[in-house]
Amino acid sequence: MRSLFLLMLLLGCSHQVRIVAPTAVEPRVAHESKARNEMVTTQGDATTRAALSLFNKGGNIIDAFVAASFAISVERPHSTGIGGGGFLIYYSKEENKVYAFDFREIAPLASSSKMYLNKKGEPQPLLSQEGALAVANPGLVKGLFDIHQRFGKLPWKETVLPAIKLAREGFPLYEQLYEAIDDRKKILLHDPEAKKTFFTKEGKVPLLGTIIYQENLAKTLEIIADQGSDGFYRGSVADAIIKTIKQKRGILSHRDLKSYKMVERTPVTGIYKGLKIYSMPPPSSGGIHVIQILKMLEPYNMKQMGPQSADAVHLTAHAMQRAFLDRASYLGDPDFHPVPVNELLNEGYLTKLSETINAPKAIKASDLKPVPLPYESSDTTHFTIADREGNMIASTQTINGWFGSGVMAQGTGIVLNNEMDDFAQKIGVQNLFGAVGGQNNLVSPRKRPLSSMSPTIITKDDKPFMALGSPSGTRIITCVAQTILNAVEFEMPLYEAVAATRIHQQWQPDILKVEAPFLAPEVEQELKERGHNVVHERLGCSIQAIKKDKAGWHGVSDPRGTGLALGIN
Ligand code: DON
Repeated sequence: MRSLFLLMLLLGCSHQVRIVAPTAVEPRVAHESKARNEMVTTQGDATTRAALSLFNKGGNIIDAFVAASFAISVERPHSTGIGGGGFLIYYSKEENKVYAFDFREIAPLASSSKMYLNKKGEPQPLLSQEGALAVANPGLVKGLFDIHQRFGKLPWKETVLPAIKLAREGFPLYEQLYEAIDDRKKILLHDPEAKKTFFTKEGKVPLLGTIIYQENLAKTLEIIADQGSDGFYRGSVADAIIKTIKQKRGILSHRDLKSYKMVERTPVTGIYKGLKIYSMPPPSSGGIHVIQILKMLEPYNMKQMGPQSADAVHLTAHAMQRAFLDRASYLGDPDFHPVPVNELLNEGYLTKLSETINAPKAIKASDLKPVPLPYESSDTTHFTIADREGNMIASTQTINGWFGSGVMAQGTGIVLNNEMDDFAQKIGVQNLFGAVGGQNNLVSPRKRPLSSMSPTIITKDDKPFMALGSPSGTRIITCVAQTILNAVEFEMPLYEAVAATRIHQQWQPDILKVEAPFLAPEVEQELKERGHNVVHERLGCSIQAIKKDKAGWHGVSDPRGTGLALGIN
């Protein structure tokens, strides 16, 4: 387990291990691009090219989105895939409307709030992280199919073809995937399908650069290309998934698969510095807290303090800490418990919160007092695409931890998620990302686990301004908020806004994490003197951002990891 956490840290998914790790910065050239018409930023070279190929065939932004989703499922099988789920924020220029789609996994019908507790009522973290009991009902394929039916232009099949080709023809093993396979080899080697797919005949991790073929996944994708989402939730693929789950004593059933439904939701919104921010509503906590953090900072003259100054970091850390206290107190699946979204984003409430963040010394987690809510009636990937008409999409997709549950459905090439770990096993118990959940985030049949994924779109005077998002659990919220802060408040060019130092404070654990490139030593010293518990840690975000500029679009794929920003002129 320790090695899993180590890997998650190195690859950007752990909160548990404190290590001073230098941040791998990739050459700028693949990570930044400008173009007049279309722009795509993703965490995969082949994925960016797959999305662009749909535009080149005359497809629209939704065709490109679906093609990117399938391609990234092949190219980053440790991070996301058709055995997982996600969210989409879609800005339709013509309608001047922003849509939010929720194709998050859901808890199986046979699940219960005590399913991860032993007889003494103690939590069993591994049960929701590894093996068949960790698997929630996948939503990705249904989401893609329903969204494409409604908005796509080219035939469905066309959107799946690049992924089929990539799975069949393969791609060279790259560093992050290598490390993920290596670290998870103990559990993956127990799974015959994973052993066959990701290891040599001798059961060794292939050398870097070895071509990774996913023939079974190619066949599964062909069935989905022919039959639409029924090809996943019914028939031979569904049979294979449920057979594997049963063999491994899981509880997901055919009834679960057949009943999966995507949900269209209303995006959460906020006005920050005259810009309109649209982001993902519950069951993600992401949108609410990105907006809360920015709104708490808005009244302060951050620009005068300067980016990465002790004053700016001190205030930002307090704003993050505050937001995460609300996350633990109020957030969960809105279909099960009312989430006070309007109250949490109420201007008066945010002004009160804002007044509390300016304490001279670091506020201890245990000293943070809740502010009463006002009464009102009332191992992941991200990619971002924009087109010549001014449409934008931001989508974050995941199977949760690296290689999800470590279970692959026999004969299908599908890696099944461990999204059940995003629930709270018990009130107050930390999950893989150190997040603590309350009553609203306990397991219940058909419930969606609370997420931090924050696909976000920003408009200015009803015109496209920016779109972004990131993987990395709870750090997604703070990485997205800081990138917006850098671009808007500090007026940094987009590449610098993405590449700049990031911090993270999530209330519990009460730590101020700082990632390389680190803060100036005197700034760090000053923060320590104010009482912040500063640690150096890799945060693992990989921001994929697109911003409107005079000539068209400016795309940036975070230089901290693999990725490609590329456009069409
Ligand atoms: O929904 C969530 O918040 C998590 N399941 C996201 C997981 C993630 O970002 C893993 N990343 N490296």
